[in-house]
Amino acid sequence: MKNIILVRSAARALFGSGGPNYSRHFSTAAIVKHVEPRYQHGGSFYWRKMSSLPQTKDQDSEEDKKKEELNNNKNNNNAVISSYWGITRPKIQREDGTEWPWNCFMPWDSYPADVSIDVTKHHVPKSFADKFAFRSVKFLRVLSDLYFKERYGCHAMMLETIAGVPGMVGGMLLHLKSLRKFQHTGGWIKALLEEAENERMHLMTMVELVKPNWHERLLVITAQGVFFNAFFVFYLLSPKTAHRFVGYLEEEAVISYTQHLNAIESGKVENVPAPAIAIDYWRLPKDATLKDVITVIRADEAHHRDVNHFASDIHHQGKELKEAPAPIGYH
Ligand SMILES: [Fe+2]
Ligand SMILES: [Fe+2]
Repeated sequence: MKNIILVRSAARALFGSGGPNYSRHFSTAAIVKHVEPRYQHGGSFYWRKMSSLPQTKDQDSEEDKKKEELNNNKNNNNAVISSYWGITRPKIQREDGTEWPWNCFMPWDSYPADVSIDVTKHHVPKSFADKFAFRSVKFLRVLSDLYFKERYGCHAMMLETIAGVPGMVGGMLLHLKSLRKFQHTGGWIKALLEEAENERMHLMTMVELVKPNWHERLLVITAQGVFFNAFFVFYLLSPKTAHRFVGYLEEEAVISYTQHLNAIESGKVENVPAPAIAIDYWRLPKDATLKDVITVIRADEAHHRDVNHFASDIHHQGKELKEAPAPIGYH
């Protein structure tokens, strides 16, 4: 008896309250044929049609059918790729009413950079860990200067492919720690991932200005393979030194971008119009130039410098990052 009830419940769950009779009205093929195109309109329409009997369809007026067809065509023309799952990006506009052209970031990810930040600040290395981090960055700087010399654009592009790694590694490891220890992290996961994303947007901007050749691409792939793994182990062993290392890396980024700005001002580098992606991301004026772009990127680097030195200082005081509020939302 118990088994019969179970079988009936399963049948109801599979076929609905009509049970096996449902197949007499609607075959599976018919459901797909009638419902699938309409499903792209949204869930409510889908459910309305699923709960209607076939006879209801016959009562639809010709006018309704025509309207529906028109809507279908409109939707199909707007969609780049039609989605069976009904996921489409809502229409987003700029403040001036023009269509938002980017999928890689949204208007709420854009921000006006705080260029009032002190770009001359330097953390004097005191502990052994600080000196190790400082010397390591200076050594890497010598290597990159030897390779890039005065090719500022290429240098910046290479720097950004590396600079986007530490935030992602740090954020990922804090995320795993949070899962492992059932702990909050005081917003530091978000802060570090925001930094990684911001660095990636620097790179997306630089590649609009500099087209890397094959050996530069090869260098980027090799450097990423080595640096990601090395920094992952480094952060596991000593987050205190890893954050200090990134703080010094950002100090070098500020110096590099200052040299880049000097080269623009002296005419060594042409002050070309800013790429469209940069104008939208930093909310720059429409007539912004490369100089404006490098100025806002340099300000971002100065923020990363301060955040990472701050993170290292927290560890130096024998505390965990979660004990200090994370600096979120400065970009
Ligand atoms: Fe950067
Ligand atoms: Fe940075």
